[in-house]
Amino acid sequence: MAGKFISFEGPDGAGKTSVLQALLPQLQQHSQADVVLTREPGGARISEKIRDLILDPQNTEMDARTEALLYAASRRQHLVEKILPALAKGAVVVCDRFVDSSVAYQGAGRQIGEADVLAMNQFATAGVEPAVTVYLDVPAAVGLARIQAHRQATQYDRLDREQLDFHERVRAAYLRLAQAAPQRIITIDATQSLAQVVTECLTVLQKTLGPDWRD
Ligand code: TMP
Repeated sequence: MAGKFISFEGPDGAGKTSVLQALLPQLQQHSQADVVLTREPGGARISEKIRDLILDPQNTEMDARTEALLYAASRRQHLVEKILPALAKGAVVVCDRFVDSSVAYQGAGRQIGEADVLAMNQFATAGVEPAVTVYLDVPAAVGLARIQAHRQATQYDRLDREQLDFHERVRAAYLRLAQAAPQRIITIDATQSLAQVVTECLTVLQKTLGPDWRD
């Protein structure tokens, strides 16, 4: 892999989307290499179709393992079609969510087993993982309160509709993942102001890019 693969993670309401929006122009300005921003589930045509299927609030009968398999299938297609080719060309690929999301949401949130979900995703990714993962940490209650403040009731997707205990399991799993892989996963306190979070993210990105970062 010639490029740099960076993922962003966090519980719902951590502010990932706003942070990435604010971050992207600055990263583009400082990076010698092209910057590709992409997201999961989605990021490629087939993967976006799977996203719609997974998040559709009407799909109430979806089984938890079906959901986990769909996330992994969406990821596989996205990886092969978009992430790996961009990395091969030397790009900095910033991915909004990756395997850690499945371990946290399906493994812990849905309680189908973090180890099993990780193993299934290793099949999907053939072991490709981000060089660095920025984890935006917020307590579940804070994240949910933010979502409630910003979205219309009709905008809640199938996972947003889960109860507080689901989101607490997700957050606890993220904290465990971060503790188990401190070299890869950098935790940022996302209860801080957006400006502060963006500044801390930029410091992480600068370190990750090393000589490819220009002032
Ligand atoms: P988003 O809100 O960051 O676009 O993500 C959509 C939802 O999908 C969010 O609730 C997290 C969830 N998700 C999983 O449950 N497993 C996964 O593997 C991914 C990528 C997302």
